[in-house]
Amino acid sequence: MESRYAERRMIKIDKPNQFASAGVPSRHFRDALYASLLHVKPKYCLEIGTHIGQSTAVFQRYFEEHEPEGIVVTVDITKLVNIKSENVKQIIVHPHVPNSDEFHRVDDHLLTHEIDSVKENIKLIQEAIRNYPTNFFDFCFLDGDHQRQSVINDFEISRNVLDGSQYILLDDTEEEHHDSKRVYEEIVSSQSHNVYDFSKEWDCYCGCALLWNK
Ligand SMILES: C[S@@+](CC[C@H](N)C(=O)[O-])C[C@H]1O[C@@H](n2cnc3c(N)ncnc32)[C@H](O)[C@@H]1O
Repeated sequence: MESRYAERRMIKIDKPNQFASAGVPSRHFRDALYASLLHVKPKYCLEIGTHIGQSTAVFQRYFEEHEPEGIVVTVDITKLVNIKSENVKQIIVHPHVPNSDEFHRVDDHLLTHEIDSVKENIKLIQEAIRNYPTNFFDFCFLDGDHQRQSVINDFEISRNVLDGSQYILLDDTEEEHHDSKRVYEEIVSSQSHNVYDFSKEWDCYCGCALLWNK
């Protein structure tokens, strides 16, 4: 019987071992993010879920070492940190769900969820690269709200603003308490995408997977 992971064996991504693991048990998602960047070599990047900028710092390191002209547009529903870098553009987007404050620290300026947040966030994200030579991104790290509708909406947003193979690194694919795991499993069983599951490939707990078009 053909394995549902047949496609992911077509690539091998080495573990760079550059970043301290995070949390308990140890998660190696920053190494997986950095390794994905080295593999895809993107110039125009999107990050959904800035939080306090820890993963944005991984993009920054990649730009400094490999793509000095690169840009990451990093989006969140609230501003917890002010990142000063030529390579980073921070923007605030609409939440997809009414209960974001149950899971995230939000401020008084929170935009409304009572709109078509997919359509509006796509506009905001595209506006952020309006003055660049492209209207599309090469890579997305998807790590926003982990509730089902948010993950589905962010996946749709990514697919609308990405070009080429549409590389998406989806975070929290192993965490039982996150809907992102369920959404990831549905994508895998629908066989709609190529999948490189870092935890399986590296035999350590990363909790993220790289998806791209077949
Ligand atoms: C798990 S944290 C991101 C962690 C960050 N990527 C890192 O590794 O340092 C999730 C973030 O997603 C943000 N968020 C929630 N809903 C969002 C949405 N609709 N769009 C973008 N970000 C969202 C939250 O405010 C929170 O800061």
